[in-house]
Amino acid sequence: MADRYLSLTATAPGRFLARRLGLPQPAALRRWSPEQPCLPGVLLHLTAGETAVCDLAPVLARTGLPLAGPAADPADPGVAAVVLDATGVHDVDSLAEVHAALHPVVRSVAASGRVVVLGSPLEDGPDHHRAAAQQALEGFVRSLGKEIGRGRTVNLLRLTDADAAESTLRFLLSPRSAYVSGQVITVTADGSGAPVDWSLPLAGRTALVTGGARGIGEAVARTLARDGAHVVVLDVPQAQDDARRVAGELGGTALALDITAVDAGERIAAELPGGLDVLIHNAGITRDRRLVNMPAERWSPVLDVNLASVLRTTDALLAAGALRRGGRIVATASIAGLAGNAGQTNYGASKAGIAGLVRSLAPCALAEHGVTVNAVAPGFIETRMTAAVPLFIREAGRRMNSLAQGGLPVDVAETTAWLAHPASGAVNGQVVRVCGQSLLGA
Ligand SMILES: NC(=O)c1ccc[n+]([C@@H]2O[C@H](COP(=O)([O-])OP(=O)(O)OC[C@H]3O[C@@H](n4cnc5c(N)ncnc54)[C@H](O)[C@@H]3O)[C@@H](O)[C@H]2O)c1
Repeated sequence: MADRYLSLTATAPGRFLARRLGLPQPAALRRWSPEQPCLPGVLLHLTAGETAVCDLAPVLARTGLPLAGPAADPADPGVAAVVLDATGVHDVDSLAEVHAALHPVVRSVAASGRVVVLGSPLEDGPDHHRAAAQQALEGFVRSLGKEIGRGRTVNLLRLTDADAAESTLRFLLSPRSAYVSGQVITVTADGSGAPVDWSLPLAGRTALVTGGARGIGEAVARTLARDGAHVVVLDVPQAQDDARRVAGELGGTALALDITAVDAGERIAAELPGGLDVLIHNAGITRDRRLVNMPAERWSPVLDVNLASVLRTTDALLAAGALRRGGRIVATASIAGLAGNAGQTNYGASKAGIAGLVRSLAPCALAEHGVTVNAVAPGFIETRMTAAVPLFIREAGRRMNSLAQGGLPVDVAETTAWLAHPASGAVNGQVVRVCGQSLLGA
């Protein structure tokens, strides 16, 4: 369902009208394409606080953005991104350096540009001044994300090792993260360090996408295939025409399977005797009703598809050793699970359950199987699921985020591809919202 308001405000009279009436002014977002793989402009690398925890310069030099350095003219209209290293911020005085660094340059960040603030991991250490200052960065980033406008995003990345954070920095500083804003992502120091082909990172790997026949799942399948994966498009038997079409176009394989089958994991393992590298739990359904009107028949299928089958197939595939070392599991949560949503007690419960699964399983899956476990939590994404939402609720869903528009399936797909990347081994146990910094659950 086309976003007519976005098209209207892309015209000069529409923009004028929106400004005069104080209405939301969404900016067309710049997304990745083979012709435009990088944001146009330079990268400003700034520092706040005492000595930074790691040397970022070599990694930033590989992001594809030319480095301008702190001496660059802040009035330069070609600032694609600003990286502010605030890992050394340790008290309220050094927080003032965050203000001093960004205040003069924030205006010069181009439309669809990026502000990435780097912080240190939050630990329960004895230094409550450092803890306060580092936590303060979250409020700063989320507030700046809400006011910066023009399709620009602001995120906070907590890290200790620049190399382990390379895939994440590349993602956040590229057009692939167009709809990711206001997020706090923690990257540990234990990346594999193995060499990576950045142009075809999933070459030679097999990825399975549940619910891959359409919507977000189809976009994920296409994006993982773009990155070199052999993709298995799993969907219910009724969706096999679409599943076969998608798989055929990608040189992949269609797999007709209802993911709620009790032996779904075993059947996937049997279909893929060579094993699996990337497992994307995307299949999901809604059966909305307020709790007072919700019979068990509307509750159970949602919990079964969205949560129980994710737990069951994950357990079965890990137990069978079907996920190779270096493997990636990405499950699909939702902001409805993080914030709650009227009429969606079943759906909200199932999606919050995904966050619990990720948090609990991630450390032991990595230790025992060498597999990372993360989740994406989409906000309002333009798909058949949201096209069915009543008009006014749909309009509210589109506008109630910092980018004032719905995301596209490809935005979730690009985020999934970053989490599935072989160089993202240091990203584990994270729930990353792809919601344009939705006001819900903020
Ligand atoms: N669209 C949004 O705005 C949005 C927001 C938050 C979260 N999500 C989540 O993203 C995921 C994809 O959403 P979408 O909008 O693309 O949905 P969609 O309805 O367009 O597609 C879902 C796919 O999953 C498949 N599927 C359903 N039950 C299945 C089962 N038992 N076994 C195998 N396949 C099954 C369907 O056939 C379909 O192809 C879902 O988990 C959804 O909850 C979507």
